[in-house]
Amino acid sequence: MGAAPIIIDTDPGQDDAIAILFALAAPERLDVRALTTVAGNVPLALTSRNARIVLDHAGRPDVPVYAGCPGPLVRPLVTAEHVHGKSGLEGVSLHEPGTELAKGHAVDFLINTLRDAPERNVTLCALGPLTNLAAALIQAPDIKRGIKSIVLMGGACFRPGNVTPAAEFNIYVDPHAASVVINSGAPITVLPLDASHQVLSTPARIERIGNIGNKAGKLVAAILAHAGHEAENLETDGGPLHDPCVIGYLLKPELFSGRHVNVEVETGCGLTLGETVVDWYRVTRRPANALWINEVDANGFYSLLIETLARLP
Ligand code: RIB
Ligand code: CA
Repeated sequence: MGAAPIIIDTDPGQDDAIAILFALAAPERLDVRALTTVAGNVPLALTSRNARIVLDHAGRPDVPVYAGCPGPLVRPLVTAEHVHGKSGLEGVSLHEPGTELAKGHAVDFLINTLRDAPERNVTLCALGPLTNLAAALIQAPDIKRGIKSIVLMGGACFRPGNVTPAAEFNIYVDPHAASVVINSGAPITVLPLDASHQVLSTPARIERIGNIGNKAGKLVAAILAHAGHEAENLETDGGPLHDPCVIGYLLKPELFSGRHVNVEVETGCGLTLGETVVDWYRVTRRPANALWINEVDANGFYSLLIETLARLP
């Protein structure tokens, strides 16, 4: 079976950068057609620059980067420089990207690509706020036909939120977009905080990554060494590795398990804005609309990450 076509929608972002490198390290499995950027961790101009910097570091300037929405559908933009640094890539040596942005808006690229794709063909990997995906689905609901699945990092059920007590950042930034996507009818797999907090980048794991012996290993170890913010907050022996869970799931789904459930997103203004309300015990009659991952083999995940990153330059 040939490599699976994927589009990575992203707001790099330290963990986004690791996820992009992870995906590019397995070209025989994942055919990264493009990156589409969205405002999130840092504003759009920076996420769009950072995406191209990461591609340069991976030796893949051929992958097109389409800039998308500069802010959420309804709410004002909330960013996370306190986590990812002012640049959005704390720990990465920055340079002017070697390539220009691809011509055209990311939403138009998503619509055109999915309309031209065979049925159930393209996997959308959503690593940031879901604004681009929602805008595409609102403008062209027919594109669902071309989507094989949407695998997204976001939400929380068994864990508290990380941007408010109730909400995870990607969902909180654009809850209206998240609600559109989760109710689109496309096949959806969610990698929430319940999953990413099981894969902590401990010092021993960072050392193993740094010892891979290539540029990619050094780069990822440097990013993780500058990503201690969450570990301090959580008082854990390492920070959760959020976005790479999406790629790990695509490469080795057997490391992950969960349940098909109904998920709704709170879009009303108040303490629970952006909360993912997961009907885990099926106490409502709302139909299941997502596979919610709540278990990860952490050691298996890091072995996969390390052996895959080792294949980059
Ligand atoms: O809550 C974690 C998510 O928010 C990750 O995607 C991180 O990059 C930020 O976008
Ligand atoms: Ca992200």
